[in-house]
Formats: sequence, structure tokens, C-alpha cells
Amino acid sequence: MKQMLNIALPKGRLGEKVYAMFEQAGFECPAIKEKNRKLVFENPEAGVRYFWVKPVDVAIYVERGAADIGVVGKDIIMETEPDVYELLDLKTGKCNMAVAAPADFRDNQSRTLRVATKFSNIARSYYASMDRDIDIIHLNGSIELAPILGLSDVIVDIVETGNTLRANKLEVVEFFAPISARLISNKASFKFLHDEIEAVMDGLEKIVREKEEKK
Ligand code: PRP
Repeated sequence: MKQMLNIALPKGRLGEKVYAMFEQAGFECPAIKEKNRKLVFENPEAGVRYFWVKPVDVAIYVERGAADIGVVGKDIIMETEPDVYELLDLKTGKCNMAVAAPADFRDNQSRTLRVATKFSNIARSYYASMDRDIDIIHLNGSIELAPILGLSDVIVDIVETGNTLRANKLEVVEFFAPISARLISNKASFKFLHDEIEAVMDGLEKIVREKEEKK
């Protein structure tokens, strides 16, 4: 029997879209569609075992080899810089990393800028590249609240539709990094399960290409 590939998928909307791509590529696992709270699903015939993981944790599973491959947002790769191979841009889950602030915000360069974010490392390196002194306020969600309540001057966060910003009267100051879902691989797995991983990569690449051509 062929070696099963362990695949970590991000739980949630992005994960469902991404699983559909694996399915189209020939790595289906019908059990995954059953409505239950199970986290592991396998299809030995197709040689795949999927597990649903919190999106921010996918790279940890892959880096440490609990998963051979996985799908993770470029935002999380930029923030955590995991020691993995980035194999393919799946061109889904697209959004942008941005600085946003209230409409009347004017940056006073003589003062330390207070930046609220879930992405402390990304924010730190972005402002370091501009030699701007900042004070990071690390939050875990609802980042848009921080400037409204005076907790921060600006936020660094992902913007997809822009609805959350608009609803909270914030505006984009700058988009500075395009984000999308990436296929990543554990480094040792890439060596020892090379053919299996390459088959998934090639299958997904074809699906991505077909989707792009239809646009
Ligand atoms: C993300 C992000 C923004 C929002 C952007 O939050 O942090 O708040 O989505 O999407 P939009 O531009 O389409 O409105 P998420 O839903 O992950 O929740 P969070 O507040 O818990 O981070």
C-alpha cells in the first residue's frame, strides 16, 4: 500500500475552499463532508489523511512533521517564518495586509506610533524598514476596536472586502503585502515522500491554472 500523506488544512471557510481544490485534483476524502466534530479523515485509496487545524497552527504541524504538507495563509508565514518549504500559491483566500486608521489620522513623526495588531512581527518589520518608532499593542482579534477606543493610533491587519474597516469608520493608509493561501511542506517529508507530494503539487497547480484561465 502506498504511503499516506498527512495534510493539515485550516479549519473554516478557507479550508473548505482548499479541500475542494484537493478533491478536484484527485485527492478526495468523502468522509470529510460528514457533519460531525471529527478532526481526522482519511482515504487510503487516494493516499491522503486530512486534519482540520486552527489556521494559525497549520505551519507548526508542518514544521514539526506532524503533517507532511498543509495550507496556510501567507500572512501567517510572514508572521511566524516557519522552517518549511513554500511550494505553491493557491491563489485563493486573497486579501491584503494593510495599515488602517481613522479618517482624520495624521502621523506625527516626533511621537511613537501606537500600532494594534495580531501580526506583531509583520508590523515591527514594516515600520523598521521605514525607521519609524512604534509601540506594538498585540491583540488577538477585533483589532478595529483599538483606534476607536483610543488604544492605538493605527492598526496593521488583513483587509479582504474592506467591510470591517468601513463599518468601523477606518480607512486604509497603505496596502503593503498581498496575501493568499500557500501549500507548504515539511522539509524532511519533501525528501522522503517526494513523489507523493509532487503528485499533489502538480494536481493543485493544474486546478489553480484552470481557475485562473476561467477568470
Ligand atoms: C479578519 C481581519 C479583519 C477582517 C477583514 O478578521 O482581522 O477584521 O477579517 O475582512 P473584511 O475586509 O472582509 O471585512 P477575522 O474575521 O479573522 O476576525 P478577528 O476580528 O477575530 O480577527
